[in-house]
Amino acid sequence: MQKPLADAWRRARTLGRRPMQVPGHKLRYLDGSRGWAHEFIGDFVRDDIPLQGGVDDNAYSHGYLTSAESLWAAATGADHSRFLVGGSTQGNITALATVGDQDTPIAIDRTSHRSTQAGLVLIGAKPVWIYPRLHPEFNIPIGVAPEALDGLEEKVNGFFATSPSYVGTLSDIRALAKVAQSYHEPLIIDQAWGAHLDFLDGQGAIQQGADFAVTSVHKALIGYTQTAVISMRDGIIPRSTLDRWVDLTSTTSPSGTLMASIDGARAAMAADGARRLADLIDAVATARRRLARVPGLAVLSDDTAGCAVDPTKLTLILPGTGADGVQVGDALWQMGHGPESADHDTLILTLSVADEPEWIVEFADLLADVVGAHRDEPRQASPISIWQVEPQVVLTPREAFLRERRRVPMREAIGEVSAEQFCPYPPGVPLLAPGELVTQESLDAIRAASTTCRIAYCSDPTLETILIVKQ
Ligand SMILES: Cc1ncc(COP(=O)(O)O)c(C=O)c1O
Repeated sequence: MQKPLADAWRRARTLGRRPMQVPGHKLRYLDGSRGWAHEFIGDFVRDDIPLQGGVDDNAYSHGYLTSAESLWAAATGADHSRFLVGGSTQGNITALATVGDQDTPIAIDRTSHRSTQAGLVLIGAKPVWIYPRLHPEFNIPIGVAPEALDGLEEKVNGFFATSPSYVGTLSDIRALAKVAQSYHEPLIIDQAWGAHLDFLDGQGAIQQGADFAVTSVHKALIGYTQTAVISMRDGIIPRSTLDRWVDLTSTTSPSGTLMASIDGARAAMAADGARRLADLIDAVATARRRLARVPGLAVLSDDTAGCAVDPTKLTLILPGTGADGVQVGDALWQMGHGPESADHDTLILTLSVADEPEWIVEFADLLADVVGAHRDEPRQASPISIWQVEPQVVLTPREAFLRERRRVPMREAIGEVSAEQFCPYPPGVPLLAPGELVTQESLDAIRAASTTCRIAYCSDPTLETILIVKQ
C-alpha cells in the first residue's frame, strides 16, 4: 500500500514553490489559484506538476519514480516495470523495438492495434502475420491459438499477441508462452485492456508466462488518460535493452501527475482491489444474465464465446434482435452513456472498478430497454469484418512508409501497394496498412467500415483517394 510517487506528488503540491524553470505556467494555477489568463488555462493545469523539477528534483535524487515502478513490478509478478505517459501505443512500439531488429521477422497478431505498425516502421522488421481464431457466428476474434505460433515457416525474433482482445476474448497465454519458450523467443502480450487482470489471481500476462506485457492504466484501471506500463521478466532479453527503447520513445518532460496516478492506481488495488474486482465481476455476471433474457440478443461469455472472456467486459451481439448497433450506440451516447464501440452488429461496453456494482445492474435494465426500442427483423451478422483481414504483404511497413508515394483515385489503386493506414477507430486495427496490396476486398471493407465509424490515419478523409508506393 506504499505509494512513494503519489505521496511525493501530494507533498510537492503543498510546498508553494515558485520555480525558475519549467513548467511555463510556473505552478501559478495549482489547486485552482488564479494566475494570469486563469479563465483560459487555469482548469487545465491546476493539477499539473512535472516529474523532473517538480515531484522530484532535476536529478531524480529521491528515486520516487523508480520506487513506484518497483512496487508495480512486485505487485504484478514482473521483474521490471516502466511507467509510460504515451499510452499502450508507446508500450507496443517499445516492446517490438526491444525484441526486434531489421533482419529478422516478428510474428504478430494481425488484429493488433495500429501502434504495432509504428513499432515495425521504427525497427524495419518484416511482420509475419498470425491470426486469432474467429467465432463462426459472431465474426469476432476468440484468441490466438498456440498452433498459430507453432506452424511458422520462418525464424522469428518474437511473438506478439493481444489479450484481452478489443471485444474481451482471452488467449491462453500459458499455452502461447510454452510455444515461445520452445523457440527461445520472447512472447509479448498487448494487455492494454487487461490492467485489472494483473490484480486478479495470477491472470496477468506476465504471471502466465509472457516475457513482456503492455498495459493501459487508464483503460481497465483508474489511472490518468495516457498512462500505461510496460513490464518484463528477466530471461531472454536484458533489462538494459528495454530501458534503452523506453528512453528513446519517451518525452524528456514526463508529467508527475500522470505518473503519480499510476502509483495511486496500484496502491488502490493493493488496498481494496480484490474486493472491488470481485464485486465488479459479480455485477457484470448479473448484467449478462439480465441481457441474455432479451430475445435474440447474444451476450459474450465463456459459454457463448468458445474461449475465456474478460469477466468485466460487456459485449453484445445484436443481429438476432434486428437492432442496429450504431443506432443503439448513438442512443446511449445521447443519454451520456457512450459505449466503448458500436458497429452494426456488435456493442462493446467497458466497465471498471470505478463503476459502482449497483449502477452496472441498473444500466443492464436500461440497455435492455434501448435495444428493445430499436428491435427490427433478425438478420445474419455482417460477413465483412475488421477481424477477418488477411493482407498480402508486399513491402515491410518501414519500406512502404519511407518510399516515395503518389496519390491515386481509390478505384485505380487495386494491385498497387498502400503507403498509408486505413484504420476504423475504434477498434484501431488497420484494414489496410503500409506495404499491403490494395485489393477489391480491402476497399470494400474500408467502405463498409466507414458506414459505422471514423476511418482514421488516412490522408484523405473522403476516402476518394489513396497514397500508394511509387513503383
Ligand atoms: C489492443 C490495444 N492496444 C493498444 C492500444 C493503445 O492504447 P493507448 O490508447 O493507451 O495508447 C489500444 C487502444 O485502444 C488497444 O485497443
